[in-house]
Amino acid sequence: MKVLILGATGHVGSRLHTHLQHANISSIAASRGRMRSSIANHIILDSMNLAELTKQLQNVDAVVNCVAGSKDAIGAGAQILTQAALAAGKPTIVHLSTMSVYGASEGVITETSPFDPDYNWYAAAKCEAEGHMQAYAQAGGKVVVLRPGCIHGPGSVQWVERIANLLKTFRLGDLGSAGDGWSNLVHVDDVVKAIHFGLEIPLAASEIQHFNLAAPDSPRWNQYFTDLAQAINATPVKRIHPLQLKLDSKAFSPAVKISQKLLTKAKQGNLANKLPEPLPPSLVRLFRQQIFLDAQKISPNLSFMTYAQSFLSSVEWLKNEQR
Ligand SMILES: NC(=O)c1ccc[n+]([C@@H]2O[C@H](COP(=O)([O-])OP(=O)(O)OC[C@H]3O[C@@H](n4cnc5c(N)ncnc54)[C@H](OP(=O)(O)O)[C@@H]3O)[C@@H](O)[C@H]2O)c1
Repeated sequence: MKVLILGATGHVGSRLHTHLQHANISSIAASRGRMRSSIANHIILDSMNLAELTKQLQNVDAVVNCVAGSKDAIGAGAQILTQAALAAGKPTIVHLSTMSVYGASEGVITETSPFDPDYNWYAAAKCEAEGHMQAYAQAGGKVVVLRPGCIHGPGSVQWVERIANLLKTFRLGDLGSAGDGWSNLVHVDDVVKAIHFGLEIPLAASEIQHFNLAAPDSPRWNQYFTDLAQAINATPVKRIHPLQLKLDSKAFSPAVKISQKLLTKAKQGNLANKLPEPLPPSLVRLFRQQIFLDAQKISPNLSFMTYAQSFLSSVEWLKNEQR
């Protein structure tokens, strides 16, 4: 099998590329080249470029879509990917979606739970992308759609490094009821194993399969914050007042975000990187959201790491990074 990975310099894509090489599966790593490109078998490819993408897809049996970024790269990008794949002889698509397609939903969420594209721009773009995957299957393609929760483990800037920075500066801690939501954490290597499974699952033409991905024992956010704070000595774990959280996410963090954008525009990237982490309102909403991603459908094919194992792996990576 020969596989093209789109978004291969990102967190999931780069880990997948290494995994497939170890499994003796030939993979081509593709990205626009704005991030690390010193990886083996890397090509510069903008997945919005229909002609180039079609050409690359003619040489592979399957493509894994790990692209993240703008609304267009996700939504229109998925449309271009399916158009290119139809023209290139219908390779199997393994598409990385997200639990965000369920938006503000709460309770136990299975793969048949309803979508909520009005939740935010990301949910809208990801729902649009899933629509294009559905259409590809209707046109005779084979598709596996994976919907992970929050991907942690080595390399996770979003769910390990960022959270650690917020804990160290006592902007996160024990949030009380504001941190009582389920974290739906899933280790990056479990996501990679699920993609590998998706590449090998026998599918008929026009078949599409969907799988939620979250470790069944993943804790509530407060638990994760307390564990991580203790592991990095951000102690004593601070009880965060709801007013602090509100002021941070609605006043301080928007100001940081604007400053970041202005500095980046003025080509002062170094200064922008020195600014504090923003804590956007969408993140604060997530911490209290009682959404529990049910990953039972994929469980017989994937033994998820325990929370203890995956947590240790995240912390080891973080400590090495900061050394
Ligand atoms: N991280 C999470 O917790 C999480 C949770 C649920 C779902 N997901 C989904 O999982 C997938 C992988 O996420 P990730 O965290 O690995 O993302 P990431 O680290 O942000 O990487 C994104 C990748 O997309 C590439 N990219 C962006 N625009 C592109 C374009 N137009 N053409 C080609 N490549 C492009 C980037 O490289 P260049 O900029 O160099 O092109 C990069 O390699 C995404 O679909 C994301 O929505 C992630």
